[in-house]
Amino acid sequence: MRHVLKGLATAAALMLSAAAQAGNPAPDEAGAMALLKESKCLTCHSVDKKKDGPAYIEVAKKYRGKADAEAKLTLWVSKKHTVEIDGEEEEHGMVKTRDAGRISNLVRWILSH
Ligand code: HEC
Repeated sequence: MRHVLKGLATAAALMLSAAAQAGNPAPDEAGAMALLKESKCLTCHSVDKKKDGPAYIEVAKKYRGKADAEAKLTLWVSKKHTVEIDGEEEEHGMVKTRDAGRISNLVRWILSH
């Protein structure tokens, strides 16, 4: 399973760098999902159901039409900070990469819902 995910991530990274040279492409779902899995975001989030964190469709709805959405969410997922879950302060997840292309792809993919 692990090497399959790794392979996916590598393929996604290759596709992304190719896409980045072609301008600002539509977000790549496989790459976004691979990064969500690697970073364990899915323990608290799902695309369409509320868990401890909001569903990504709700996040997209909240930010629709907001010019600073990408910048805000990029910070949100790449800096250490805490959130309140059931009245307790808990560490929010952080993406397990520093590759700006992969992070941007994930943020644009979340916002595309
Ligand atoms: C420990 C549980 C937990 C983990 C792990 C987690 N999140 Fe969250 N996330 C939350 C909670 C709770 C909120 C809602 C915070 C609030 O609105 O105060 C949230 C909010 C968000 C938001 C919306 C922020 C906003 O401004 O509305 C995004 C986007 C997000 N998370 C992405 C991610 C990504 C990407 C990862 C993995 C790197 C991740 N989360 C990992 C619990 C988690």
